Amino acid sequence: MRLTLLAAATIAALLAAPAAAQLRGHGGPVRAVAASPDGRLAISGGFDSTAILWALAENRALGVLRLHDDAVTAVAALPDGRFVTAGADGRIALWRLGARAPERVAQAHKAQIAGLAASPDGRRLASASFDRSLRVEDVESGAAQIFEGHRDVVNAVAFSADGQTLISGGHDGQLRFTPLAGGAPAIVQMEAPVVALLALADGRALAGRADGALARIDPASGRVDEIARLGAPISALARRPDGRVAVAGLDGTITLVDLASGRLTPFAAKRAGPVWGLAFAGAELLSAGNDGFVRRYDVAAGVEIAPAAFAETPEIPAGLRDHPGARVFSACIACHALQPEEGQRAGPSLHGLMGRRIASAPGYAYSEALQGLSIVWTPETVARLFEIGPTRYTPGTKMPEQRVVDAADRQALVEFLAQATR
Ligand code: HEC
Repeated sequence: MRLTLLAAATIAALLAAPAAAQLRGHGGPVRAVAASPDGRLAISGGFDSTAILWALAENRALGVLRLHDDAVTAVAALPDGRFVTAGADGRIALWRLGARAPERVAQAHKAQIAGLAASPDGRRLASASFDRSLRVEDVESGAAQIFEGHRDVVNAVAFSADGQTLISGGHDGQLRFTPLAGGAPAIVQMEAPVVALLALADGRALAGRADGALARIDPASGRVDEIARLGAPISALARRPDGRVAVAGLDGTITLVDLASGRLTPFAAKRAGPVWGLAFAGAELLSAGNDGFVRRYDVAAGVEIAPAAFAETPEIPAGLRDHPGARVFSACIACHALQPEEGQRAGPSLHGLMGRRIASAPGYAYSEALQGLSIVWTPETVARLFEIGPTRYTPGTKMPEQRVVDAADRQALVEFLAQATR
């Protein structure tokens, strides 16, 4: 997948979408999402190789986490407030909110990491990889143990509710229940690849499969109960404490499943393209998808939360709300303030941008790459930044790759910025 082409296509799609949208910041498809246990923060990982931390109440990016050389393919929120990112580069990084650099980075796997899970007590972190192995690390010391046995790529991993068993599912159709204290795993062979899984409170597991089946597996008896079958391969699962499970499909659908009754409730509107990640955050469900957004849904109402529910527009100066560039700027607003009193967001304030030297907004922690450049921002240089994309124009930047492909849109954006940042 060529990133630039992909990002260009996605920005075009983003600009065609309604002006104010959901958590918007990735320059391409969003691969994974997780929420903090209190439901206030979320982390998303994208094919643009960044992870973004979000404050849900403000609908705003708090930080861009740039480290991975390739797509960020799995994310997790630890109970102690830290966050974890894992990538197609096989690396795992541990982040603390507000810190510029990760606390620890490990070359954990030889290939893409497809799944991450924290143990119930938050002390251990498990990863599943395309290199066919599983890895469990002690979060404090970083000491790690590798588990092998799958005959093909491992897509998903979870800890049992008591934290004693590692559950993994792979392309080989195996669900393995490996006792962490040692001993032979219980292996259940199914007829289709396992893509996603959840541990149930009673020791059983729920597997989402490539044939669209949602199956409940009992490691003791080896029994497999098919709870539901969706019309497309399952791509993600998430569970609420009340027992309801959200299931996403490669066809862009989200379905709520009541495990007790087996009842299926189609949820929200079908997305254009796969939903790659799901997470419950308090009363909301978050989805990560091909359309470049993290979308937010009201679980009780079963609908996407109207963008108007978030205070997004007030920061656009009153006289400029109907400016054609304001619509283009909606792709930037989660990360950039325009007015001095709004302070810094995930990206630097753009106040006073025109005529300003790159990487010189006071109080913002720029990447070293940006500090080493000597661009002066003018309507021409800003237009160029989004014509060829930040990765080429400002190599090493932590701004997620994105382009504004249409020349008229770029012109509208720089005219808007020139006025709005004065
Ligand atoms: C997900 C967050 C995010 C989004 C969305 C985003 N940016 Fe950025 N932007 C950043 C970050 C982070 C930096 C600082 C990069 C660094 O230090 O390497 C930055 C830097 C910049 C800079 C350089 C500022 C300076 O002081 O030198 C400009 C200009 C800019 N962004 C404009 C935009 C515009 C216009 C858009 C929308 C089309 C946009 N950005 C979208 C995060 C974002």
